[in-house]
Amino acid sequence: MSTALRPAAQTPPAAAATDAESTRGLVEITKVRKFFGAAEVLKGITLTVEPGGVAVIVGPSGSGKSTLLRTINHLEKVDAGFIAIDGTLVGYEVRGRRLHELREKEILKQRTEIGMVFQNFNLFPHLTALENVTEAPIVAPRAGKPRLSKAEARERGLELLDRVGLKDRAGAYPRQLSGGQQQRVAIARALALDPKILLFDEPTSALDPELVNEVLDVIRELAKSGTTLIIVTHEMGFARDVADTVVFMDQGQIIEQGTPREIFTNPREERTRSFFSKVIEPAFNI
Ligand SMILES: Nc1ncnc2c1ncn2[C@@H]1O[C@H](COP(=O)(O)OP(=O)(O)O)[C@@H](O)[C@H]1O
Ligand SMILES: [Mg+2]
Repeated sequence: MSTALRPAAQTPPAAAATDAESTRGLVEITKVRKFFGAAEVLKGITLTVEPGGVAVIVGPSGSGKSTLLRTINHLEKVDAGFIAIDGTLVGYEVRGRRLHELREKEILKQRTEIGMVFQNFNLFPHLTALENVTEAPIVAPRAGKPRLSKAEARERGLELLDRVGLKDRAGAYPRQLSGGQQQRVAIARALALDPKILLFDEPTSALDPELVNEVLDVIRELAKSGTTLIIVTHEMGFARDVADTVVFMDQGQIIEQGTPREIFTNPREERTRSFFSKVIEPAFNI
């Protein structure tokens, strides 16, 4: 799988590439810049993640990792550059020669193709595990697919809970579940809309250490499933196992990217080496 940086396009891509499964989940981020007030937190990010690819983003706190993830589903607007999924711009359309922001309804529809899993699970506390998972397919039908009936959503919800090892806890409320179980419910919920892309923002950072692996194991399984994954994590052993591309960010820029071996064992940039020397055990690079 090619993970090389592509030359940035000078003009937005024409809408609608092919629908073929082989292009499902292609993410193209081109020269994206983002300001919060006067602070430029993304300074021209260009990154391609191939369909079914697994990109892991690492870097110090404040380097822009969460902001970058949030631009991918248009939770943050970009100030320059653009993001396309399968050749279709995210959040904007080209009219004439200009980009116009899509209407809210269109944005929400696009967002159903992109699942997101947050550090703090964000489950609805008053809904059971199963209801948390089925809420989305009933309320927001999957793009291009019919709205599911309650019974169909329930069946699909149980399948998804089974996939994350929690079918027997379908009736439990979030407060009755461990953090690891809650996060697995959140992953099942993100899968409910059959997304092309799943974004994970430090999915294990809020967990007690003994609960981290059960969540990472679920993500490892997803990595084999052909859904494109973009994962922000500090779990370097996991990143090395699961990533086909590791992206190191610092101060709003991609400092370097490559295979886990290239980035962890043989980083070219001093900033990358310096970061890993602080976060990785010496024995890790063997
Ligand atoms: N909504 C916001 N308003 C203002 N500044 C923000 C906002 N979100 C993030 N920032 C700032 O943007 C920078 C990047 O933040 P973030 O993307 O959360 O970094 P990371 O996820 O790598 O820790 C930080 O300096 C942060 O304080
Ligand atoms: Mg963050």
